[in-house]
Amino acid sequence: MKILAIESSCDEFSVAILDEDKILCNVISSQIEQHKEYGGVVPELAARLHLENCGWVLQEALEQSQVNLEEIDQIAYTDHPGLIGSLIIGKIVAQTLGLYLNKPVQGYDHIQGHIFGTAINHDFVYPVLAMVASGGHTQIELVNSPNDFQIIGSTEDDAIGECYDKVARVMGLSYPGGPVIDKLAKTGNPDAYDLPLAKNDATYDFSYSGLKTAMINLIHRLNQKNEPLPLNDLAASFQKQAMKIIEIKLARAIQTYHPKTLTVGGGVSANTLLRTIIQQLGTKYQLEQTIIPDLAYCTDNAAMMAKLAYEKQKVS
Ligand code: KG4
Ligand code: ZN
Repeated sequence: MKILAIESSCDEFSVAILDEDKILCNVISSQIEQHKEYGGVVPELAARLHLENCGWVLQEALEQSQVNLEEIDQIAYTDHPGLIGSLIIGKIVAQTLGLYLNKPVQGYDHIQGHIFGTAINHDFVYPVLAMVASGGHTQIELVNSPNDFQIIGSTEDDAIGECYDKVARVMGLSYPGGPVIDKLAKTGNPDAYDLPLAKNDATYDFSYSGLKTAMINLIHRLNQKNEPLPLNDLAASFQKQAMKIIEIKLARAIQTYHPKTLTVGGGVSANTLLRTIIQQLGTKYQLEQTIIPDLAYCTDNAAMMAKLAYEKQKVS
């Protein structure tokens, strides 16, 4: 069974081919350079660039995997959530291939894809407690099977990755801000600044707009001194609070839902501190399995959608 998957929900156009449980290729065209000058993703530009990139990405995927198009058994693509113009391009490519090959085409959920991206090279033991931390979502899900997802808590306003990117822009750093702040934080003092703990309440929902505003106000005050910004200390203090709330809420969710597997997915799961926190939580609560995903499958990629499609069908 060979699945060709397409992921195009934001500013990456990606094609992966999976043969049974094996990822044969995972080609990703990134648009970071084109969006950098605007400080974030411009939706219209993202869709237009997908159109330019989809042809060569597909060709490259077939070449890398040494698979003929006619050998593909089914097509999977991301149908939501995401930027509408970007999603449409992926859907059109998927449906065109399906029509040409006369093979089934199925749309899948991007967030579920992020969760199953963590299961590539690490098989899940259910139930799985999954933290999804990305540019668009901060969410905790309980996964009982590939067809049974329960959302425990979700994004109230800014998602964590969005908050990283917006704070980075005010700090004068380049897009995407997450990896830059993560790197700066390594040599900064996390106790240098006192920042609020976002939505520290009894729910499992997440709000990052308060922390974002506090950071922006702090940076404006520091800028008035006309001195260089202490970027490392700002990054470390921000990162400490951004991750602390995830640690608090996940610890409570573990005690309430008793998962066998703890995992973390989405672009922000590449973060050094978050990866350490997840590992420590798994150890502290003696979970059967704690999965720290391979870096290649953290940010948007089509391999995660192929893995999701494969696992769903295996049990249906
Ligand atoms: O999952 P993703 O590729 O796209 C969405 O579905 O949103 O996530 C992109 C986000 C960006 O906000 C980026 O800044 C963030 O992931 N990110 C990080 C790190 N690497 C990527 N955030 C914090 N630390 C990182 N190391
Ligand atoms: Zn994503």
